Amino acid sequence: MALNISLLFALACVASFAAAASPNNTVYIISNAETPSLELPGLTPVGLQRAQNCLPPLLTPLDIGLIVACPFDKDSGLCAETIRTATPTAQALGLNVTTTCGAGEESDDDCVSDLLKKFAKTSTQSILVVWDILDLDSLFENLDIDDSTEGDDDDDDDDDDTPHFDLLTAIVKHKVTSITSQGCAGLDGQAPGSFRRSLRSVRNSSKRSHKKRRISSRIVGRQA
Ligand SMILES: *[C@@H]1O[C@H](CO)[C@@H](O)[C@H](O)[C@H]1NC(C)=O
Ligand SMILES: *[C@@H]1O[C@H](CO)[C@@H](O)[C@H](O)[C@H]1NC(C)=O
Ligand SMILES: *[C@@H]1O[C@H](CO)[C@@H](O)[C@H](O)[C@H]1NC(C)=O
Repeated sequence: MALNISLLFALACVASFAAAASPNNTVYIISNAETPSLELPGLTPVGLQRAQNCLPPLLTPLDIGLIVACPFDKDSGLCAETIRTATPTAQALGLNVTTTCGAGEESDDDCVSDLLKKFAKTSTQSILVVWDILDLDSLFENLDIDDSTEGDDDDDDDDDDTPHFDLLTAIVKHKVTSITSQGCAGLDGQAPGSFRRSLRSVRNSSKRSHKKRRISSRIVGRQA
């Protein structure tokens, strides 16, 4: 009997190690919704509609069990509107927004990754991460997300320099499995009241969207 119990214990350890090493949980990543130009605070009317009306019905069916959003970082100005973006969805799901992982210079690079691993030990549910649109590259890097850019193919009309607030990126085991538009009716495709000038069609190629995000970040620059 004692032997059986220690065997079970050993198996449980192996299982939990395996889960921690490569969790199958899907991680969904979105940016903050639209913010005004001229570094004004808050969300634009479009951003508010996205956060309040579009994201909750979009995200509640996705079996999300953890919501992570970076809190406002004074020094960099990052994450001013991430919590506001996440809150209506969190309320719809009955979850709290976890804000222990910050963006910016002083933040712990492993924080989000550690949170996800910890969550994955006890749950197979999905995880939603709401991050500053200007800091997504760091987030992807810190989560060790594979965004291999080999075979950089055609460069048709993809060099627009506008940020894409409408993307929903899904990741499993450090790999991007899809990038889709949030498909917010009346918002995605046109964005009156925000500095986004246009929105291209949905893309399902991770590398191109990710590349674009880099370009966007560079051009938009840092909010103060
Ligand atoms: C992850 O998924 C694979 C394939 O579906 C499965 O074999 C494996 O047991 C899963 N791992 C965990 C930790 O759930
Ligand atoms: C959310 O946080 C409040 C206050 O800390 C706590 O009472 C509540 O149980 C939490 N809810 C969930 C779903 O974790
Ligand atoms: C990507 O889009 C193309 C054309 O729209 C489609 O044929 C292809 O199946 C899509 N790939 C994935 C992985 O969704």
